[in-house]
Amino acid sequence: MKRKIALVLAVLAAAGLLSACGAQAASPSSPAISSDQILVAYFSNSGNTEEVAQLIAERTGGTLAEIQRAVPYDDLQAEAEEEINAGARPEITVDVEDISDYEMIFVGYPIWWDEAPAMISTFLASFDFDGKTIVPFCTSASDDIDNSLHIFIELCPGTTIAEGLTANDLDDVEPWLDTLGVLAD
Ligand SMILES: Cc1cc2nc3c(=O)[nH]c(=O)nc-3n(C[C@H](O)[C@H](O)[C@H](O)COP(=O)(O)O)c2cc1C
Repeated sequence: MKRKIALVLAVLAAAGLLSACGAQAASPSSPAISSDQILVAYFSNSGNTEEVAQLIAERTGGTLAEIQRAVPYDDLQAEAEEEINAGARPEITVDVEDISDYEMIFVGYPIWWDEAPAMISTFLASFDFDGKTIVPFCTSASDDIDNSLHIFIELCPGTTIAEGLTANDLDDVEPWLDTLGVLAD
């Protein structure tokens, strides 16, 4: 059985020891992708994004990996906004055994102040996604995903960025996965 290893990534990322994901594209020109090549990475503060991530993993057969902040916020409202505005990359933990196993990486998060939480920037900067496809998704109170997508373009210039989903309605998930061509039988 494969052993998953919890990685504390931000320090390495900050030290430049991990390569940032590398050009961009807009759609998943995916040849057939098998379920074991799909990773569903997500950060969720209060469970909404986690529910979507679990549905994506269930319907694609992909592997779930929760992104967590290594050090929980003392004051989420104050600290989280400040680190987004500062472009900070807080330390995270995420269980990913070997990123090279995956060709399609879903990346999910709640919208915070119309942006992705800073942990998502840490995640994107911590692995080499060059040549892979990243599929963003989010949940929110009302804002859509568009304003948060700039970090994917900035941090993953060698990566295909597929059309993302604002997944506030679970009924939208399956048609979107179908469009991406990754619905399991
Ligand atoms: C600190 C904070 C900031 C938020 N900022 C926004 C926002 O700018 N726009 C929005 O539509 N929702 C915003 N929300 C609502 C969350 O995006 C929404 O509740 C989301 O589904 C939470 O996902 P989670 O349960 O996975 O953490 C915010 C929530 C929090 C806690």
